[in-house]
Amino acid sequence: MAILKAVRGTRDLLPPETALWNHVEATARAVFARYGFGEIRTPIFEDTSLFARGVGEETDIVSKEMYTWEDRARADSDSAQSLTLRPENTAGVVRAYIEHKLADTGMLQKLFYIGPQFRRERPQRGRYRQFWQIGAEVLGPAWSGSDSPLRDAEVLEMLATFLNELGIKNWRLELNSVGSSTDRPRYLIALREALAPVKHLMCADNQRRAETNPLRVLDSKDPQDQEIINKLPRIADFLDDASKGHFAQVLTALDACNVPYSVNPRLVRGLDYYTRTTFEFTIPDGSGLGTQNALLGGGRYDGLSEMLGGPKAPGIGFAIGEDRLILTLQAQAEAEAKESGASVSACGTWVQKLDAFIAPMGIAQNAAALLLAKELRAAGLAIEVGDGSFRLKKSFEAADKLARRMVILGEDEIASGILTVKDFSAGEQTKVARAGLVDFLRG
Ligand code: HAM
Repeated sequence: MAILKAVRGTRDLLPPETALWNHVEATARAVFARYGFGEIRTPIFEDTSLFARGVGEETDIVSKEMYTWEDRARADSDSAQSLTLRPENTAGVVRAYIEHKLADTGMLQKLFYIGPQFRRERPQRGRYRQFWQIGAEVLGPAWSGSDSPLRDAEVLEMLATFLNELGIKNWRLELNSVGSSTDRPRYLIALREALAPVKHLMCADNQRRAETNPLRVLDSKDPQDQEIINKLPRIADFLDDASKGHFAQVLTALDACNVPYSVNPRLVRGLDYYTRTTFEFTIPDGSGLGTQNALLGGGRYDGLSEMLGGPKAPGIGFAIGEDRLILTLQAQAEAEAKESGASVSACGTWVQKLDAFIAPMGIAQNAAALLLAKELRAAGLAIEVGDGSFRLKKSFEAADKLARRMVILGEDEIASGILTVKDFSAGEQTKVARAGLVDFLRG
């Protein structure tokens, strides 16, 4: 029979790699808590129209990449609801904000999430069909300060702190302002006018974008089209005074907090809801992700809540590609190990060895071994227990892989209450009284 495998673009995450995932998520939780964020968990599937309206019909995500199905109450029923696996989570968070009337609290909402998203993209390194995002949204009525440039700078400073605490090196922050909902139409007219005489010279994708979503032409990486793109009008020249002032305040606050950045006038991002500040963090080298793959991206939005039938609620948010963050950490650890000549596996750094492996010398000692393990675990130690039918050599090999020490439990040890403890790194064997074992293993 054919062996079933995980579906293309999806993958299993196994120990010890999951230790690194947990470390990344625990760091995110700890950092975000310091900035006053609370966790939100929204469903993994939603009504399809949420994404059509929230993310935008013309975006690549909605037009090409969603996992959508007709969900019938019964097989023979005519009425069906169109449902979609979430391709991103900003729309879901804003839906929840509206549904639970969070605006009525009058408070700024600072919400973070960690979870899988789904897009039917062509799988490659760092690009999957089920991938994980660690994201956050800051939103609320305008009087709660949700459209303040201070929020943009705070979010960016938090991301810089998070990446630094994780030990991510060489990250780059690029940002831009894509203008308000009144700046944008003026810019789009100019962009369409500039594209009209040259678009037939561009690649098929850009010809289509020039019609449906001209902003996306700007972030095209097609090498042949770069000369044309470089000559297109820049959004910075179409910002009104309020948008210019907003962006300038973001940059001033970033300077004050010593967050390095570069302004990239072509950074527009692929989702329709952005207004004013947009940003991406990238790793220029070392992770093997390629330059097209941002580590994380986000921006400000105004009008998204209204588009979904809610009250005005400007906001700003981001989503980190957790898979890419992990790949980057692994690539960095491997590079460092190579440099220092050590042979540590990339995950080795994040995996804690168990405190001890208990090896019963025969089946008769199995129950006593399990009881000893129970007592040591109750004292907070991490313990594995072997089986008395193993040969000592096998137990020894297993113990060396898993734990820092091995506790040998034979008939004599049980009778005398004096145990033999082997320390793997020191290569020493010590006799320890059972009453002192917890303290000895903690040391
Ligand atoms: P996005 O740029 O579509 O934005 O995705 C954010 C990040 O998710 C990307 O920078 C990338 O690291 C990761 N990512 C996207 N697609 C994949 C994939 N197929 N495989 C692996 N990683 C991927 C958003 O999703 C917005 N909701 C961000 C946001 C929040 N904007 C405002 N608030």
